[in-house]
Amino acid sequence: MIYLTNIAALAGIVPRGVLRKQGAEMDELSTLRDAYLAIRGTDIDSFGPMSALPEIGAEDEVIDAGGGHVLPAFCDSHTHICFAGTREQEFIDKIKGLSYAEIAARGGGILNSADLLHRTGEEELYRQTMSRVDEITRMGTGAIEIKSGYGLTTEDELKMLRVIRRIRESSRAVIKATFLGAHAVGRAYLGRQKDYVDLVCSEMIPAIGAENKTSPVPIAEYVDVFCDEGFFTPEETDRILTAGKAYGLVPKIHANELAYSGGVQVAAAHDALSVDHLERTTDAEIEALRGKRTMPTMLPGSSFFLGIPYGKAREFIQAGLGIALASDYNPGSSPSGDMRFVMAMGCIKMRLTPAQAFNAVTLNSAYAMGVSDILGSITEGKRANLILTDPIPSLAHISYCHHSPFIRKVFLGGEAI
Ligand code: NIG
Ligand code: FE
Repeated sequence: MIYLTNIAALAGIVPRGVLRKQGAEMDELSTLRDAYLAIRGTDIDSFGPMSALPEIGAEDEVIDAGGGHVLPAFCDSHTHICFAGTREQEFIDKIKGLSYAEIAARGGGILNSADLLHRTGEEELYRQTMSRVDEITRMGTGAIEIKSGYGLTTEDELKMLRVIRRIRESSRAVIKATFLGAHAVGRAYLGRQKDYVDLVCSEMIPAIGAENKTSPVPIAEYVDVFCDEGFFTPEETDRILTAGKAYGLVPKIHANELAYSGGVQVAAAHDALSVDHLERTTDAEIEALRGKRTMPTMLPGSSFFLGIPYGKAREFIQAGLGIALASDYNPGSSPSGDMRFVMAMGCIKMRLTPAQAFNAVTLNSAYAMGVSDILGSITEGKRANLILTDPIPSLAHISYCHHSPFIRKVFLGGEAI
């Protein structure tokens, strides 16, 4: 057993069986002061007040938290960190006045990354992706959903998914893979969007289904579509999600980033696990999500980077829904996977309380990637993915002083990394 002792505050305690927080619950943050936490193997064994610390055996290890806080590691339920190279030129083009949509319409954007990825070998793609995984785990992220979508041919999409699977096998972080073949129309199909959607439904998805059948570790568990102006329509999205479901892939979606796309309604009708982006929504989107299992997921990093509106998180919460926050780490709209910065933007730009931001990047983002039964809170039996901080005045400090380096240690599966 490993005992973390002298914890000033153990934060994010959630009873077993609670898989997400919604409405007023989002502002609840259960904390135990002057606590210990015991880790057995990869999991949280138990925790309690220091006054009830069990007798330490000769074979036990003690780590003195020295008055730091302990919290669940962040879960990042929406990333595109499997990419090759970077896109600084577009960053400069944006500064000069081009919009994300204009860059994409010129054949830049996602297609630019697809060209780079095509020229990059599997080994090098693994190396680049793994270094981003290492970068964000050191910043406190313990679970990462990674999307394909820079392949845009069957071969290159499978190349990405194989790299993601290898990362899943080699990283201590929990990794989930999402097939996003419908991220953009591949270059060879420009002007023939219907044929590309046919390719996604009739070739890419069946190839993933076949690979999932034979491999002990699935190559993808979720299917996602960029349903937005200039990308895929609600009708195409419906086709792709239907095709994915036939092979056991659970729907997620990119919607309402660039326009009121109708994607939220399609995804909700498909009982999607999450609907993501949501920079532009009306009451209709909230109504479509009421009573659903779907987790609305907002990505303030892309609002910040692209200069577009921030999601109306407070309206969703007031309507009784939960929200998750994720980084969207990608080379085109959010080149950062720093979840503390995501929390800070949640508080500063979306006016979430620090407790709401905390729940949005832990339990609810774990839910949005289908792992809140094993991650996202301090709960006996959950995986010991934890952050230990230096002494900080309060939990609000995490978002308030979001760039001070107070994360002292990160534990993934019970081991300090
Ligand atoms: O989530 N919106 C679509 N896809 C990504 C951006 C991808 C890119 O530009 O490379 C996003 O923001
Ligand atoms: Fe995205």
